Amino acid sequence: MIESRKDDHIRIASGQNVEEGNNLFNEVQLIHMALPEIDLDDVDTSITIFNKRLSFPFIIGAMTGGTETAEKINTILAKCAEEYGIGMYVGSQRVAIVKPETARSFRVVAENAPTALKIANLGAPQVSRLDEKVLSDWVSQAIDMINADAIAIHLNPAQEVFQPEGEPWFRGVIDKLRFIKRVANRPLIVKEVGNGISMEVAKALVSKVGPDAIDVAGTGGTSFIRIESIRAGTTDEADVFSGWGIPTAISICEVRSVYNGVIIASGGIRSGLDGAKAIAIGANAFSMSRPLLLAALKGYDEAKRFIGKLLREFKIAMFLTGSRSVDELGKAPIVFGPTIISWLSQRNIPCKHIRRFM
Ligand SMILES: Cc1cc2nc3c(=O)[nH]c(=O)nc-3n(C[C@H](O)[C@H](O)[C@H](O)COP(=O)(O)O)c2cc1C
Repeated sequence: MIESRKDDHIRIASGQNVEEGNNLFNEVQLIHMALPEIDLDDVDTSITIFNKRLSFPFIIGAMTGGTETAEKINTILAKCAEEYGIGMYVGSQRVAIVKPETARSFRVVAENAPTALKIANLGAPQVSRLDEKVLSDWVSQAIDMINADAIAIHLNPAQEVFQPEGEPWFRGVIDKLRFIKRVANRPLIVKEVGNGISMEVAKALVSKVGPDAIDVAGTGGTSFIRIESIRAGTTDEADVFSGWGIPTAISICEVRSVYNGVIIASGGIRSGLDGAKAIAIGANAFSMSRPLLLAALKGYDEAKRFIGKLLREFKIAMFLTGSRSVDELGKAPIVFGPTIISWLSQRNIPCKHIRRFM
């Protein structure tokens, strides 16, 4: 049952148009620098995050595991993560804890990416129902399965509510997150899955959990409202809620206005230029899912080529803003379009509060 859901997600996400909303990166303008006073070769795209050096601030998004197809995808993506020295999340590992015979589909990530930054993954609704002893066991199993450097817990209320067999159980999640932070012995990342994180959620996380990173996973890319409705065979409600959520560029600003830790930008990021914009408005790294699924389904060479292209686009954006380092990119001048300005003003977020160096 869980396994067939994983294959449904892969099949629907790769076979149909499931991207909705606008991440509003079209309203973030980096200012061209005609006199960068550096050579392209001087641009250093690397960063250090959770004690790992990444060749550029990119993390392969959380997607899958639990089936044969998922194992092939995870193997290809892990090889790419190792080859480029970037990060990689795995998909939710509940399936492998409940059905240990499927754990191999995740273990291939540790085997093929021994030195890369690897991030374990569990879902908030599922952990909300476990007692502390069982939860502690799930967390260690998830981490050990891929030799993870960090663990991500995903918040996905919109997905659960549209999923035919969904578990929209969010009571008590904050206490469980705080418990995971205490027992995981690894950095804790709290992420969404494509509907974004608001300033209020980030504030609650800061005061009650203390996560090491927040991945905003905003609106404007893959929509799980759409994917789950297609699985359910009725898309009327999904049409009503099409584009629901916080656009990714805005979610970065909302979270940055109250949170000083690591922000990972994701949700509809589709180029190295989008990634550079995300960093210029306050993120520390960026992540992408669906396009990598499509590339991995074509094979290792295509996935490798795709990530190489992203790296090159990111480097060009750094050069053309005169940014020698990723820190400098975080201070590059930007201009926002009217929707973002209006949103920030109605939410009382001063523009000067959204930059990385507050
Ligand atoms: C096929 C597929 C499966 C996914 N499964 C998970 C998952 O198990 N856990 C999770 O945290 N996010 C999952 N996601 C959500 C992604 O991590 C990401 O937040 C979302 O797709 C938005 O990024 P994108 O627009 O670049 O695809 C999945 C995404 C896709 C496309």
